[in-house]
Amino acid sequence: MRLNPLSIHTVLGIETSCDETGVAVLQVERGKPKLLANLLYSQVTLHRKYGGVVPEVAARAHVEKLPVLLKLAENESGLRLRDLDSIAVASGPGLISSLAVGVETARTLAWALEKPLFGVNHLEGHVMANFFTRPQPKLPALCLIVSGGHTEIVLMKGFGRFVKLGRTQDDAAGEAFDKVAQILGLGYPGGPAIQKIAQGVSNITTVLPRPMLNRKNFDFSFAGLKTAVLYKTMGRRLTKAQRFELAAAFQEAVVDVLVQKTIRAAKTIRVKSVLIGGGVAANTFLRKRMRNAVQKELRGVTYHEPDLKLCTDNAAMIALAGYYRLTRGERSNWKTLRVDPTWEVQR
Ligand code: KG4
Ligand code: ZN
Repeated sequence: MRLNPLSIHTVLGIETSCDETGVAVLQVERGKPKLLANLLYSQVTLHRKYGGVVPEVAARAHVEKLPVLLKLAENESGLRLRDLDSIAVASGPGLISSLAVGVETARTLAWALEKPLFGVNHLEGHVMANFFTRPQPKLPALCLIVSGGHTEIVLMKGFGRFVKLGRTQDDAAGEAFDKVAQILGLGYPGGPAIQKIAQGVSNITTVLPRPMLNRKNFDFSFAGLKTAVLYKTMGRRLTKAQRFELAAAFQEAVVDVLVQKTIRAAKTIRVKSVLIGGGVAANTFLRKRMRNAVQKELRGVTYHEPDLKLCTDNAAMIALAGYYRLTRGERSNWKTLRVDPTWEVQR
């Protein structure tokens, strides 16, 4: 099925790849996306006491909440599920048991309601979160994907056409934020907690390493930086102010590496725009530094970032990625769609 560009198309989006249950209703009219509903049930409080996501707990919460969100999405959008045109679901990468809840629900709906179905790559969704606002990014684009499970620099050559240029060799950036916050006793999830604390720190004196900054490739490594923070705390009783300063120094080191490596990649590969996506892309310090660096160092290249609420996991980005799959004439089969927990964004 190919779309008439003048037509109105509605997509149901479902996201359950980790610890957020998301349902969205997207309407695209003359190529312009509009969210009629974008609902999220965050499981943060369920996982907080464990200091990280417990897969079994996450999957059970998705089972409980997904039907409720589907009903709420009908109410909010004013549309019945049977009236929507297609269904998009994140089918990987992510936690296998969490993904399965969304995928099995979407397959059942696609079969029962006889709708086209799209299994969407969750990381592609994070990139597509940049395509809600106008003007849309021009391609080819360089995208920094920074989430709790992934840190990658990818080249987007076209819709659905990605080349992976670099990735983390150990911890993802978000994972490092979460672990460092745990080491410093700052709360969960660590990213927002560290950002908030760092805003109140005026003078950073601690010197932390910038891992792999001087390597020519576009890979990252954050495990050593996390250990460096741990060493600074060992055998010492840090005051609150010292812990806060250390958190700010850590954030600065991570952002330094992310920005400098992205800019270097964009200089090496000629691109028309630079994008960021994923939970860590909600970090205001990273957004500001990246915006300034692109404007200062990359002439003629535009910078784009998703709305704050479209950085962390959500179903709106999955619905939009599904819509673009539809425009390319692609489609999944409800009989054969399976979860793919290690699905790479580069096909
Ligand atoms: O994309 P996401 O919601 O889930 C995954 O696909 O992993 O990313 C979650 C990650 C968590 O590690 C969280 O600490 C981090 O994103 N995060 C942030 C911020 N908000 C969320 N990291 C830094 N600064 C933030 N403001
Ligand atoms: Zn994500």
